[in-house]
Amino acid sequence: MISTPICELLKIDYPIALGGLGGGFTQPEMVAGVSEVGGFGAIGCHGMSAAEVTAASVAIREITDKPFALNFLLFLVEEDAFAAALAQKPAAIALAWPRGDQDIKSYINRAHDAGCKVTLMAGSVKEAIRGAEAGADVIIAQGSEGGGHVSWMTSIVLTPMVVDAITPIPVLAAGGFANGRGLAAAIALGADGILLGTRFLASDESKMHPNFKKAILKSDGHDTVLTEIPDLAAGTVWPGAMSRAQRNAFIKNWTGREWEIRQNQKEVEATVMTARKEGDADNAPLSFGQDAGLIDDIIPVKDIVLRIVKEAEDIMRNKLPALAD
Ligand SMILES: Cc1cc2nc3c(=O)[nH]c(=O)nc-3n(C[C@H](O)[C@H](O)[C@H](O)COP(=O)(O)O)c2cc1C
Repeated sequence: MISTPICELLKIDYPIALGGLGGGFTQPEMVAGVSEVGGFGAIGCHGMSAAEVTAASVAIREITDKPFALNFLLFLVEEDAFAAALAQKPAAIALAWPRGDQDIKSYINRAHDAGCKVTLMAGSVKEAIRGAEAGADVIIAQGSEGGGHVSWMTSIVLTPMVVDAITPIPVLAAGGFANGRGLAAAIALGADGILLGTRFLASDESKMHPNFKKAILKSDGHDTVLTEIPDLAAGTVWPGAMSRAQRNAFIKNWTGREWEIRQNQKEVEATVMTARKEGDADNAPLSFGQDAGLIDDIIPVKDIVLRIVKEAEDIMRNKLPALAD
């Protein structure tokens, strides 16, 4: 069985985590399903009220007594929701995307005082060191292959650089990991495990519209782009992030006309909301990673975790030892 030091730290069986996908993509059933099978589930609390954070935590605990994380985007964090999360005392508070001038230490200290571990997502070595110095227990090194908001460095380069910069603090590699080969590779790069977003979006438990899930299956991974168009349409300025989204009709339509989105933000946002509701995969931004090219089925999250473990174990037991003889 694959077990790394992070398993002991987070009290999980397998070093496989679900990213806290905000915007309602991580539901209690999905989070609990990942945790119950032995991985580490996380709910994206971005946009949730204090009452919703509490209700989601209670709902997860009705399904499993295994550890899970509550995830916050620091640059948009709402005090009430954060306080409600701490009151739930999850195994971990998962933090991502602080502003450059934000005092992350105070959030980390409050989480520690509540008895939670803290993970911090970093897309650069500088951000990883910042998180480590502020007291984070785990750093998520997130590469630009990943879905949603990412920085500029690829996982294969960023992961070992972050590991070297903050050792002995454990690192989970994120961005582009979707199978057992990815887990074995991440461990070879010095990480303690992997954190996944896109793979779990294409799961039975994912509440993503079926048409959007189909777009992930159909994607060969070559059809995504780093863009600011989804954020311009949402009217949100992120602290230095680009968004990896499918180069669909919506993105093609607005590329080169970003100024026009700024001019008509509310109207553009309204068309996005309608397209999302109708499951129109061409006319809403679709955030997923290059690893969509590695995904060709929609299965329960439990099977995703177990399949990754089995594949990685097979590589490590049967393929790698013979190569080192
Ligand atoms: C639709 C979507 C929403 C996301 N929302 C969040 C979020 O709210 N908080 C966060 O820490 N990461 C978020 N992420 C990033 C994931 O946690 C993770 O780093 C990324 O998906 C890893 O790359 P992968 O998609 O190749 O697995 C999101 C990713 C996607 C695809």
